[in-house]
Amino acid sequence: MNKRKILITGGAGFIGSHVVRRFVRNYPNDHIINGDALTYAGNLENLSDVDGASNYFFEKLDITNIDAVREVFEKHEISDVIHLAAESHVDRSIEGPMEFVMSNVVGTVNLLNAAKEFWKSGEHIFHHVSTDEVYGSLGDDGLFTEETSYDPRSPYSASKASSDHFVRAYFHTYGLPVKISNCSNNYGSHHFPEKLIPLMIHNILNNKPLPIYGKGDNIRDWLWVEDHASAIDKIFSEGRLGEAYNVGGLNEWTNIELVRFLCRLMDEKLGRKSGESEKLITYVKDRAGHDKRYAIDATKLENELGWKPSITFEEGLSKTVDWYLDNSEWVNKVTSGSYKDYYENMYGNRT
Ligand code: NAD
Ligand code: TYD
Repeated sequence: MNKRKILITGGAGFIGSHVVRRFVRNYPNDHIINGDALTYAGNLENLSDVDGASNYFFEKLDITNIDAVREVFEKHEISDVIHLAAESHVDRSIEGPMEFVMSNVVGTVNLLNAAKEFWKSGEHIFHHVSTDEVYGSLGDDGLFTEETSYDPRSPYSASKASSDHFVRAYFHTYGLPVKISNCSNNYGSHHFPEKLIPLMIHNILNNKPLPIYGKGDNIRDWLWVEDHASAIDKIFSEGRLGEAYNVGGLNEWTNIELVRFLCRLMDEKLGRKSGESEKLITYVKDRAGHDKRYAIDATKLENELGWKPSITFEEGLSKTVDWYLDNSEWVNKVTSGSYKDYYENMYGNRT
């Protein structure tokens, strides 16, 4: 097989860095090109352990700039794309939707156009990484399947739904070889402390209030980030063209139960008295348009491609907390500067 030149967009972000690391190690004969704009969420230190690998390349790339995208396709003779670059935080999308339109919608269409222009012959794959949030919000029962109608309700999920539609449209209209994966909430190492789990770990460590939106009874379905990376590898390598695959681990938690569990785990690890961290729990004003419940049915991925999560939530969360305890320098770096302004703006007047 010819050497593949795989562009992984958003490779300096949380999930992207795990995908890049996996591909650099698993596919030493291919070129892995990380194209990332290095926004507040992108951090090359996430990849310090693969930085020197001979099959790894970094390009500072803003996907909203079509000329820059074309340049990277040309320079590296890109044969495949795994597209993760996006604005990814719902709360930020409520404050400012336009950046989400630009990176998530315009950026995706730029990549699709470049792939369409450069891939005139040969075998190629455009794997678009998306979210279960495109399906909207569930009631008490049921799971999202690949047949669930799209019903996005936040600016973030609306932008991701739009990008999914464009990817499918390029398959049907131009025959572009695409695949889509829609995954549930991820957690793990290198997660920017604005999303629920890393924010709570950070605040527990620093004895800061733990802001629970509304009653804390919203439900999310959590998957360890390395299991998401293994699912992306499976789907990219063996999934059918034109198909979407849901990714999730049947692991639903209400936010409040999850935070209580995390508090108990961290009390143990930090040698605190039992119940100490839970005292930090603070109920705050709910998120606007807060989706009640997400839960994924990943039967298609399991039956067709034999994928399963590798570890339990208890194991994954314990590993995650250990990583944050061992990497305080990383946390200090990402929480200095503009993070403080973000935090004040989001939580300052919320209680
Ligand atoms: P993240 O916010 O941690 O990282 C996003 C990365 O994209 C950053 O490195 C950032 O610099 C880069 N980026 C943003 N705008 C860009 C632009 N215009 N050009 C180039 N790079 C840009 O996000 P994440 O949590 O790692 O999510 C990655 C992908 O997975 C996203 O597409 C997201 O929608 C999807 N996803 C995330 C989750 C989750 O739980 N985090 C779940 C399912 C799907
Ligand atoms: P988040 O990690 O932002 O992921 P998403 O909204 O994409 O699912 O939030 C997960 C859940 O946690 C969601 O129901 C909102 C809630 N939440 C809080 O209660 N407090 C917080 O400080 C944050 C960031 C989230």
